[in-house]
Amino acid sequence: MGVFGYIGKSNAVPVLVGGLRKLGFQGYDSTGVAVLEEGRILVAKSAGKLAELEEKLNGRIFASTIGIGHTRWATHGKPSESNAHPHLDCHGDFAVVHNGIIENYFELKEWLIKEGHLFRSETDTEVLPHLIEHFYEGKLETAVRKILTKIEGSYSLIVLSRQDPGTLVAARKNNSLVVGLGEDGYYLASNFSPILQHTKNTYIMEDEEIAVLTREGAHFTDFQGKAKEKILYEISWDPSAAEKDGYDHFMLKEIFEQPKALRDTLAGRLTDEKVVLKEMDLTPEQIAGFNKVAIVGCGTAYHAGLIGRTLIERWAKLPVEVDIASEFRYRTPLIDERTLVVVLSQSGETADTLAGLREAKRLGARIVAITNVVGSSVSREAHDVIYTWAGPEIAIASTKAYTTQIEAMILLALYLTQAKGTMSKEWIREIIAELKKIPDKAGEIFTQVAKVEQLAPLIKEASSAFFIGRGLDWSVALEGSLKLKETSYIHAEAYAAGELKHGTIALVTEETPIIALATQRDLYDKTLSSVNELKAREAKVIGFTFEGNDSFGQSVDEVFYLPETINELAPILTVIPLQLLAYYVSLARGNDVDRPRNLVKSVTVE
Ligand code: F6R
Repeated sequence: MGVFGYIGKSNAVPVLVGGLRKLGFQGYDSTGVAVLEEGRILVAKSAGKLAELEEKLNGRIFASTIGIGHTRWATHGKPSESNAHPHLDCHGDFAVVHNGIIENYFELKEWLIKEGHLFRSETDTEVLPHLIEHFYEGKLETAVRKILTKIEGSYSLIVLSRQDPGTLVAARKNNSLVVGLGEDGYYLASNFSPILQHTKNTYIMEDEEIAVLTREGAHFTDFQGKAKEKILYEISWDPSAAEKDGYDHFMLKEIFEQPKALRDTLAGRLTDEKVVLKEMDLTPEQIAGFNKVAIVGCGTAYHAGLIGRTLIERWAKLPVEVDIASEFRYRTPLIDERTLVVVLSQSGETADTLAGLREAKRLGARIVAITNVVGSSVSREAHDVIYTWAGPEIAIASTKAYTTQIEAMILLALYLTQAKGTMSKEWIREIIAELKKIPDKAGEIFTQVAKVEQLAPLIKEASSAFFIGRGLDWSVALEGSLKLKETSYIHAEAYAAGELKHGTIALVTEETPIIALATQRDLYDKTLSSVNELKAREAKVIGFTFEGNDSFGQSVDEVFYLPETINELAPILTVIPLQLLAYYVSLARGNDVDRPRNLVKSVTVE
């Protein structure tokens, strides 16, 4: 979750612990530091909160002025002391802290083990110190540059070496890393928050850049070794803004983190032709034996499950039921060993979802969990786990967990489809090629944030708002309306567009904002008829669609055009402006965006 490094004149241990306190703001599961003292790398780690690490360090006098630290949010390997960073090579020559994912760690680890290296953790990170050990020929910077040609994935990493005792080497790719230039030394961190208490002068590392810090200075190069000129920035944020990477709220920060979360969730799971879910332990025969799928989750996770239903039925040709977890047990579901049960939970601790999982297991079903928290109850009790690599979600209103849950559902649907052979290889290739573009397309939406902000006043004073759509748009409408109600406290409902005329349209007046979603091309005309019915009742309609849907665009009062994608992948993009809309309406109403009233992040009571 956070890396931190220090080299300078001060005692490193208190500096590192102070930095970790800022980095770990919330949502980490283990911590650790490594310092260089009398020619040895000393490491202290702890599973749990920072206080436990501090307790371990208490009473020990350190004189080191160079070190690295880490707060971990488990990805590969459960939260435990052995999986906590820093990680060492075989001989304690190199210590590494790392944020991100090394996608090809498995192959590298196998190779390093054959070369005689001894691994002590289940993490992807541990391949890094062993690789450095393998390639080291007298200069740390050169060895780090060499290993970067071997690893694939995203990372911000810092290396400490007893062979080069006055040097820290750091590198970044698709992750964040900043350098602080203080009076007492240099600081390296994954965000500004642990640095700002020491200095406001910072260098921002760019993608594919290496930093080499000594007590004499900092120099930066690209991955090929070409020197880079850097601009020194003065950061004026207050410390609480720094915890949120400069965003006003965690919700906004997490909305903006979606391109990265989406990229990380796909990382290592797609080739050009197929989905590779190494974590799934199902044979094609077992998959062929399933006669239905049951999906269980609460709130936002349930909404992601609704999308999963459409995809699995459409692609893998398996019948799917979706249940709200708190209702699942009470309708005596027809579940047995031929049912694949998918349990969705960001936290992995939601009591109703866990109870549903246990009931399905009792009935003999095979359980796949989709969760964001490694080692959570749901992950431990399921047979298979597909993790969403969204990183910690702090805001109560779920955003990046939802879009990555949809991605995980897409991966699972494709995994079942390819095993069952229900769609052609060519078709799977096309979907995969488009899926790979989704993280960037999610990022494109942020060029239109101002447009969403301008829509907020149209909704801010409403006492009621309706979200409508057909097919997958209806599922997204449910999530859009939940976001609006929980953050703004405006009564919001989602309706299948065709269902409005069967009663609900009686509630619609010119005072009722309607959010109409039209991304399913085969349903454009039908949704347009619903919009026209509403316009005839003087309703104000805000439409979300793709460029080219002109008749729809001209019929609504305001229109937001999404980046083009295929129907089935559209929900990931459609929801992003709806999340932003909920955020800006909540802000305009003066609400506590990150902590809406009456809500907690994880509901651990039934
Ligand atoms: C809404 C929200 C909740 C959760 C629900 C399930 O923004 O966050 O509806 O989705 O409480 O939580 P998890 O996914 O942790 O089981």
